[in-house]
Amino acid sequence: MYRTIGNTGIRVFAIGLGAMPLSLAGRPPRERAEAVIDAALDAGLTFIDTANCYCVDDHDIGHNERLIRDALRCRHAAGVTVATKGGLTRPDGRWERDGRPSSLQAACEQSLQDLGLETIPLYQLHAPDPAVPFTDSVGALARLRDAGKIAHVGLSNVDIPQLEAARAIVPVASVQNRCHVLCRRDLDNGLVDYCRQHGITYIAYSPVGGGNGHKRLPGVAALTEIARAHAASVYCVALAWLLHKGEHILPIPGASRTTSILDSVKAASLKLTGADVTSIDKIDAGLRQ
Ligand SMILES: NC(=O)c1ccc[n+]([C@@H]2O[C@H](COP(=O)([O-])OP(=O)(O)OC[C@H]3O[C@@H](n4cnc5c(N)ncnc54)[C@H](OP(=O)(O)O)[C@@H]3O)[C@@H](O)[C@H]2O)c1
Repeated sequence: MYRTIGNTGIRVFAIGLGAMPLSLAGRPPRERAEAVIDAALDAGLTFIDTANCYCVDDHDIGHNERLIRDALRCRHAAGVTVATKGGLTRPDGRWERDGRPSSLQAACEQSLQDLGLETIPLYQLHAPDPAVPFTDSVGALARLRDAGKIAHVGLSNVDIPQLEAARAIVPVASVQNRCHVLCRRDLDNGLVDYCRQHGITYIAYSPVGGGNGHKRLPGVAALTEIARAHAASVYCVALAWLLHKGEHILPIPGASRTTSILDSVKAASLKLTGADVTSIDKIDAGLRQ
C-alpha cells in the first residue's frame, strides 16, 4: 500500500517512520536506534520523518538528522524519502518557536549538512510562530525552494486559514498535524477533507496517541475487541483506521524499539471491516482529547 506525497510524484509506503523517539531525552543507545531504522527499511518503509530539533537541547540540534544520515549511508539506501522540519528551537531542552525567515534559512542550511543532502525532498515549517507574520515564514520556505535547497514545502501544526494563506505563496505538498483515534480534530473540522480536495498529503503525527498517550489505547474496549478478532495489536488497528480515513493520509508512528515499528508496518495490510470502522468511529467522545 503506497501514498503519493501531494502532487510531487514521490511514492512512499503508506506507513512512515516517525524518528523523534530516537533522539529525545531517554533516547535509546546509538546501536539500538540504528537497528530501529534498519528494521523499518527492511520491512519496506520508505518515508522517514525527522526535524532539526529532535534532540535533547540546543547543543544537540541535528542529532536525529545525523542519525538518519548515517543509518541510510551505511545501507546505501536509495528510494527513501526523508522529510525534515525547521522553525523550533530547544533552549535548555524546552520547545520554542522561531519562524523568522533568517532563522529558517540558517536551520535549512544546517539540516542540509546534517542530512548530507544537496536538496531536502520535503521541508516542513514545524509550527507557526506567533511572533512572526506567518506569510513571512512561508515566504522563506518559498525562497529555499526557488534556490533548490528544498524540493517541496510542507506545513505542520496549521489550520485551514493558515494553509490557504500559505498556498497563495507556494505549492504545499503536505500538512503534518496530530491525529489519532482519540484526537480527531482535523477529521471533524474539515482540514483532512480540505487536504484531500487539494491534493495535499495529510501526515498524521502521534498516530497511536503520542509518547505517553499511546499507553491509553490498550484500555479502549472497541480497539481491544477488534485487535483480538484480527490477531493484531491495538496500535495496528488504530493505524489501519487512519489509513481507512483517506488515501492521502500518511501515518508516521514513532518507535524507539524495533518491535514497535515492525508491528506498525502490519497496519498497511490489515483489512478492517465496515463494522470495525463504525465501532472505532463511535468510540465514546469522553475518551477523546
Ligand atoms: N510536527 C510535530 O509537531 C510533531 C509532534 C510530535 C510528533 N511528530 C512526529 O510524529 C512521529 C510520531 O509521533 P510520536 O512519536 O509522538 O507518537 P506515536 O507515533 O503515537 O508513538 C508513541 C510511542 O508509541 C509506541 N508505539 C508506536 N507504535 C507501536 C506499536 N505498533 N506497538 C507498540 N508500541 C508502539 C512507541 O513506543 P517505543 O518508543 O517504546 O517504541 C512510540 O514511541 C514522531 O516520531 C515525529 O516524527 C511531529
